[in-house]
Amino acid sequence: MPIANIAVIGAGTMGQGIAQLCAQQGYTTWLYDVQDGAAERARQRIAQALDRRVAKGRMTTGDADAALSRVSVADSLAELSEADLVVEAIVEDLAVKRALFAELETLCRADALLCTNTSSLSVGEIAAELHTPQRFAGLHFFNPPTAMKLVEVVSADATAQTTQRALHDFARSLGKTPVAVSDSPGFIVNRCARPFYSEALWLLEHGAAAAATIDACLKSGGGFPLGPFELIDLVGLDINLRATETVWQAFDHHPRFRPSPLVADKVAAGQLGRKSGVGFYRYDSDDHTGAADNTTPAGVTGPEALIADLQAEVPGQYQVTDGRTATELAAELGQPVAVLDTALCPWANDRPTTLAFATHGVDSADRERLVKAAAGRGVHLVEVADRPGLIVLRVAAMLINEARFALNEGIASADDMDTAMRLGLNFALGPWAMLARLGVERIRTTLERATEEDPSGRYTYSPSETQ
Ligand code: NAI
Repeated sequence: MPIANIAVIGAGTMGQGIAQLCAQQGYTTWLYDVQDGAAERARQRIAQALDRRVAKGRMTTGDADAALSRVSVADSLAELSEADLVVEAIVEDLAVKRALFAELETLCRADALLCTNTSSLSVGEIAAELHTPQRFAGLHFFNPPTAMKLVEVVSADATAQTTQRALHDFARSLGKTPVAVSDSPGFIVNRCARPFYSEALWLLEHGAAAAATIDACLKSGGGFPLGPFELIDLVGLDINLRATETVWQAFDHHPRFRPSPLVADKVAAGQLGRKSGVGFYRYDSDDHTGAADNTTPAGVTGPEALIADLQAEVPGQYQVTDGRTATELAAELGQPVAVLDTALCPWANDRPTTLAFATHGVDSADRERLVKAAAGRGVHLVEVADRPGLIVLRVAAMLINEARFALNEGIASADDMDTAMRLGLNFALGPWAMLARLGVERIRTTLERATEEDPSGRYTYSPSETQ
């Protein structure tokens, strides 16, 4: 059945964006909200958003007018009976969503597709009482829906393949990249991204390095556009805490999802990030970038190249982390050792480069000479606690490990996971691409050594049958 008419239910942040997107792509779109006047206000905001696109030269006035003319406000659910596809974006409450779909099932045509934009509820549970669950699925857009390229198409057990295929085609027709995921807590992105935050928080909680150092290392060494603390501050600590708690509960309080007390304490103190002026950074000054004021000169493309340079100036035993600590290596080699963090992407010349290092047995004068020699090459070398995997390798190991768990559970393909993490979070690399660069041995060693330090089960290595 061709899809031409879309009903968007819930005219808040997501519903408004999804309605605008559908109208821009040529679909006749109805917008309905239970709150009086909310859908009309959303339509007005869509008009303003379209005007901004015209002002920026991204759209012609004619196209904007045509898009707006395709958005109608519905005053009752009954007006949505001719929709080919319904996207629900109402309050995140299982009982309210279930009640809505029970009503829609009686109102809509039997061949209409019914979708939820839920980010944390089970798609199967929302559909549990439907008579026709085969036409029901998750269609998970990212905020803002007009800009973010990813859509997670979430299939519950009862979702028909024809429904899945139609939703993939629909997402593509909106200019999005769909990925297929089975109904499971956090789907791909909200689950597989947890270690990015939680491992950074663990390092901070255990005094391994300051938040700004961890952010700077991950940005320059991991190709992440924002560090985890910057991202938590941007999204809001309360939102981050809720997302973490939801996934933690869904995984029976597994230690790898344990929420950090650092976030809970800040939320309790009203420090919610940018929106409250304080989070992991303060937003009344410029000191929150955490980035060193230097750039990488051409020629120093990563830690390996840096080591060769450093050795010429300050002779010593240096190596890029393979998961073993400097302490372990020094004991093995019988001499002082400095371990440098890894880089997932070549260092870009246009951004500051910060690299973590840890030492064992290296005297303070030599450590200072090392830092100075690196600074002369545009690299801000920061000494951190001597822990397995330092910062970039350690966070990458946890991201990769979570992806391995998810793959073993069959929730999505490795390719779709990489696509989802790149497009949903703007990561430079997805977890499987990270694994290809780092190699499985370094991941295993990091997690094994981390388990020796913390045997709670947090660092349990997930063997993967396929990768
Ligand atoms: P919001 O609070 O901005 O908007 C929700 C809207 O739904 C409100 O206008 C409310 O009046 C309306 N509503 C509540 N109950 C209703 C009902 N029974 N019938 C019709 N309208 C009703 O919420 P937001 O942020 O747009 O989220 C909506 C859904 O999208 C939630 O399921 C959320 O988990 C999900 N989501 C949110 C994202 C975000 O970044 N905000 C990202 C991806 C998914």
